[in-house]
Amino acid sequence: MKLAVANQKGGVGKTTLAFHLIHAWAEEGKRVLAVDMDPQGDLTSSLWSEDLPGTALVARVFEGKSPLPLEVNQGISLVAAEISLSVHEKDLSLKNYFRLKTWLDSMGNQFDAVVVDCPPSLGLFTINALVAARWVVAPVDVSFYSVRALEDLLGSLEELKEIGEGARLLGIAPFAFAPRQRATRAVKELLEEEYGDLLFSWVIPSSARVREALILGKPVWKLRRDEQAVGESFRRLALEIWKRACGGDRG
Ligand SMILES: Nc1ncnc2c1ncn2[C@@H]1O[C@H](COP(=O)(O)OP(=O)(O)OP(=O)(O)O)[C@@H](O)[C@H]1O
Ligand SMILES: [Mg+2]
Repeated sequence: MKLAVANQKGGVGKTTLAFHLIHAWAEEGKRVLAVDMDPQGDLTSSLWSEDLPGTALVARVFEGKSPLPLEVNQGISLVAAEISLSVHEKDLSLKNYFRLKTWLDSMGNQFDAVVVDCPPSLGLFTINALVAARWVVAPVDVSFYSVRALEDLLGSLEELKEIGEGARLLGIAPFAFAPRQRATRAVKELLEEEYGDLLFSWVIPSSARVREALILGKPVWKLRRDEQAVGESFRRLALEIWKRACGGDRG
C-alpha cells in the first residue's frame, strides 16, 4: 500500500501524521518504508538522529540511482531528505515527475506500506509523491486556508487522472482540533458539508506532547500515560486509514 501525506499548506500536521502512521503500522508487524520528499527533512530528523549517508537520500532518484534505505528500527526503513534535495526542483523535465514512482515500482513487494511525506507546496516533489502513491491522505488544521488548499490538491489529482496517473484522495484527517472551540466547530462543519464521508472519523486533538514526540523520535503513545487519549486517536486513525486503503477490493 503506497500512501502520500499531502497538503500544500504548511504546518498542518503532514509530518506528524506520517510519523505516527509509520510507527503504528510497524508496531503491528508491517514492513514500512518511510520516504521523505521534503527538503526540510523533518520526517528524517524525527526518525534518524545520526549522520546521513549519501546513499540513503531520496535525491538519488533524481540522479537516476537507487537509494539504499536506512534501517531505523522495528520494521521501519527510511529514505531520507535534507536541504540539498531542493537543487533537483529546478529540473522540470517530464521524466523528473516520475522518478519516485519508477524507483518504488522497481522495489516490488519488499514493503507492506510506503508512506511519503510531502513538502508544503504542489511542486515537483509533491507531484512525484502523488504519481507514485495509490492513495493520498490530507491533514487539515483549524483554518479556512487549509480547507481551500484541499481544493488545489484535488485539482492536481484531477489533472493527473486525466493523463492516467496519480493517487486518489483516501480521506481528510482533521488535525490539532479543540472540539470545544467555536472555530474548530465551524471548520469541521464546513469539511463535513464539502467532503462528507471523506473525513476520517478519528480526529487528532490538539496536544503539546505531539511536538515533543517528534523531537524525541517516539510516537506520542510511548511518551506518558497521561497522553493516552491523543495516542489512542493516532492509533485509531492509523487503523481507519489502513482499513479504508486495504479494505474490500481496494489495495
Ligand atoms: N495534534 C497536534 N497538537 C498540537 N500541535 C501539533 C499537532 N500536530 C502537529 N502539531 C505541531 O504543529 C507543527 C506542524 O506540524 P507538522 O510539522 O507535522 O506539519 P507539516 O504539515 O508537516 O509542516 P510543513 O508543511 O512545514 O512540512 C509542529 O510543531 C507540530 O508539533
Ligand atoms: Mg512536514
